[in-house]
Amino acid sequence: MSIGISGLGIYAPKKIVTNDDLSKLVDTNDEWIYSRTGIRQRHVAEGEEDTLYMALEASKVAIQDANINPQDIDFIICSTVTREYAFPSVAALVQKALEIPSIPAFDMGPACGGFAYVLATAESYVKSGLAKKVLCICSEKLSDIIDWTDRNTCVLFGDAAGAVIIEENPSQATILKTIIGGDGAYGELLRMEKIGDKPPVVRMDGMGVFKSAIRIMDEQVREVCASAGKTIEDIDLLVPHQANARIMSAVAERLGIPVEKTYMNVAHYGNTSSVSVLLALADAKKEGILKEGMLVACPVLGAGFTWGASLLQY
Ligand code: ACO
Repeated sequence: MSIGISGLGIYAPKKIVTNDDLSKLVDTNDEWIYSRTGIRQRHVAEGEEDTLYMALEASKVAIQDANINPQDIDFIICSTVTREYAFPSVAALVQKALEIPSIPAFDMGPACGGFAYVLATAESYVKSGLAKKVLCICSEKLSDIIDWTDRNTCVLFGDAAGAVIIEENPSQATILKTIIGGDGAYGELLRMEKIGDKPPVVRMDGMGVFKSAIRIMDEQVREVCASAGKTIEDIDLLVPHQANARIMSAVAERLGIPVEKTYMNVAHYGNTSSVSVLLALADAKKEGILKEGMLVACPVLGAGFTWGASLLQY
């Protein structure tokens, strides 16, 4: 049974915030941010662009790209850590907005590990026969949970959404294998913290995250290749979670994958958590870098820690 991606859509908010803009908010500068992270700018949502709005916009593009009707969808999963309310879920609100008759719809919150988690979940439901066409969404308005006075974190993140349609006999890419994992023992390294009576914000042990992310994403690529009967040399394009250019380069180097075979667009969007691989796949396709026939490896890691990797045959 071949299960995979039949449509892909992304949405990035209109407002762009450059490193120079941030240097007016906190004690930082473009040279520091770019040399440490590879980030030049990020999109920041405003006005109507909340988590649901971005999820809906990306979903509409994915549905069009898959050449299906919204009513063909029979399952929705949304990965987000920034939904405005605990309930109803973003997935349920997308179902309502797209006028899809009643279907299962739920959210999950694996943070930056979200892409592998939604893919593994959707694939399992299709494989088991519980779903035929799953709309998988990742939507993150991280600007809502960032402390804009903390230069350690506010320079890293951006807002965006992405969506894919997962079904049998896919028109774009087959999921050869997706693995997921995690360990709450790493929870302290990247967490939400409530200070006084203010809403909780992101706090991070930057170097702790940096070192673990490199080691674990390297392991994930090796494991997903081994379980799919592929070698590292078979990989045509590495599309890692776009946390930071230095993390991605180090993962590629450990794997022995040349940097030319590693796609990065973190310079443009910053770290958009669960959305980042979707933005990268969409841009790589648009730029003609991601081509039919390519074997693409997508390792991810996020708060929790959650982690995983997908091997996609385009
Ligand atoms: N501008 C200027 N100075 C800064 C800034 C900033 N924006 N942020 C921190 N600094 C200062 C620190 O206060 C510190 O100063 P001190 O030495 O006086 O205490 C100093 O810079 C640290 O500098 P470096 O050691 O050169 O920085 P480092 O190499 O540790 O890089 C970074 C920091 C970029 C945060 C790195 O640790 C990192 O990339 N970590 C991974 C974080 C990440 O990607 N998190 C995303 C979420 S998890 C995920 O998606 C995988």
